[in-house]
Amino acid sequence: MKILVIGSGGREHALAWRISQSKRVSSVLVSPGNAGTTRSEGIRNIQGQTVSEWLRIAQEENVYLTVVGPEAPLSEGIVDTFRAAGLRIFGPTQAASQLEGSKDFAKQFMVRHGIPTARAATFNEAAAAHSYIDQHGAPIVIKADGLAAGKGVVVAMRLQEAHDAVDAMLGGSLGGAGHRVVIEEFLTGEEASFIVMVDGKHILPLATSQDHKRLLDGDQGPNTGGMGAYSPAPVVTPSLHGRIMREIIVPTVAGMAAEGTPYTGFLYAGVMIDAQGIPKTLEFNCRMGDPETQPIMMRLKSDFTVLLEHAIDGTLNTIEAEWDLKNAIGVVMAAEGYPGTPRKGDVITGLDSKSENVEVFQAGTSLTSEGEVVTSGGRVLCVTAMAHTLKQARQLAYTHAEQIHFNGAQQRSDIGWRALPVSGQH
Ligand code: AMP
Ligand code: GLY
Repeated sequence: MKILVIGSGGREHALAWRISQSKRVSSVLVSPGNAGTTRSEGIRNIQGQTVSEWLRIAQEENVYLTVVGPEAPLSEGIVDTFRAAGLRIFGPTQAASQLEGSKDFAKQFMVRHGIPTARAATFNEAAAAHSYIDQHGAPIVIKADGLAAGKGVVVAMRLQEAHDAVDAMLGGSLGGAGHRVVIEEFLTGEEASFIVMVDGKHILPLATSQDHKRLLDGDQGPNTGGMGAYSPAPVVTPSLHGRIMREIIVPTVAGMAAEGTPYTGFLYAGVMIDAQGIPKTLEFNCRMGDPETQPIMMRLKSDFTVLLEHAIDGTLNTIEAEWDLKNAIGVVMAAEGYPGTPRKGDVITGLDSKSENVEVFQAGTSLTSEGEVVTSGGRVLCVTAMAHTLKQARQLAYTHAEQIHFNGAQQRSDIGWRALPVSGQH
C-alpha cells in the first residue's frame, strides 16, 4: 500500500521513516518533503502545496491513506475535502481543528467543559486590552487568536512588553491571526506534551514527551518551535497521566462529540504542571509536535499503519500501541538567525555518517542541482538517538551531532536536563 504524508518538516520525516518500515507499505510519498525524505529508502517526495494538489496526488497515485503533519492544511479543510472524495485521511475536520486554529475558540470550549486552563479574556479592541493588562499586572501572556506559525505567543514579564504585544498584534503585525488577542494568566511549572490519537470517540495515548521551547541553554532566550525533545517525560508519572486523561483529554473528546464536531486526528495538549502536580492546559494542537514526534517515532514498536487504520475506522479501542522501553532524545540543529529570519543555502556535511540507534531527521533542507544538501529553513535537522538511559541517549545524540556541520549552526547543549539527575550525582 502507498501512504501519503503531507508536510516538509522533521516531524514528517520521522512519520514517513516509521511508516516506511511497515511490511504492508510499498512506498511512502511525502509532499512536499525535504532533502532528507527524498534521500531515504522507501520514501519519495512529490511536489504539492495546496489541498487541491494533494487531493489530485492521492487520487492519481492511488494512495491508501493520508496523514497530515502541519496545522495549516487542517485549518483549510483538507480532511473534509478528502472525505468528500471518499479518501482515507487521518486528521481533524476544519471545524474540529479550531481547537488549534483559534485560541479564543479553545479557551471558550475549555471553560464550557470545565477543562483546567489559565484564566483569560479575549479582545479585539486595544483600549479594553490595555486596561485588562493594567488591572491584572505582569507577568501576563498575550496570544494571537489565529495561527501564527509559532510567533503568536508573548510571555510578557513586564507590563510594557504586554502593552507592546497588544499594539503589535492588533495593529496587524501577524496579519489576520492577531486581529483578536487572548490575554491570559501566567502559569508556572513544568511543561509536557501530551499527545493522543483520537477516532471521534476513542483515545489512544502516545508515549509522553517534553519539548524545549527556548533557543538557549537553561531555557533562556526567545521562544522557538522547539529545540529538542525526549520521550518518555518522567514528569508525567502514571498518576498524573491518569489525571490528564480524566481532566483534559477525555472531556475534550467528549465535548467535541457533544457539540457536533467529533474530533479525529492527533490531539496534542500542551500541559503546565505546577509545583503541586496540578495540570492545566496551555494550548491544544491538532497535530503531532515537532520535534516531539522524532523521539516518539523512534520508540514506536507497533506497525504505525495499523494504528492509523484503526483511527480512521473508529476502532482505536481495540488496539494498543507498543513502545520501546528505552529513552529517546532529539537534538535540533537550527540555522543562523533562527527563530528570526534564518540564513539559507549553507552546505551541510556529515549527513552520510551512520551510528547505531541514531536517526537524523531533516527539516529545513533542500537538495541543489549538484546534489548537495543545503539549509533552507530555521530548524534544519534533529539528531535523534535511543538508548537504555536518557543519559546514554543524550550522549549518543550529541556525539553524532558533532559529525554534522553547516555554517552558523545553533544547538542547545542541555536537551533533557529536567529529566537527568543533577550533574555529578550519577
Ligand atoms: P502555546 O503556543 O500556547 O503553547 O504557547 C507557547 C509557549 O508559551 C508555551 O509552550 C509556554 O512555554 C508559553 N506559555 C503559553 N501560555 C502560557 C501561560 N499561560 N503561562 C506561562 N507560559 C505560557
Ligand atoms: N514542539 C511544539 C509544537 O510542535 O507545537
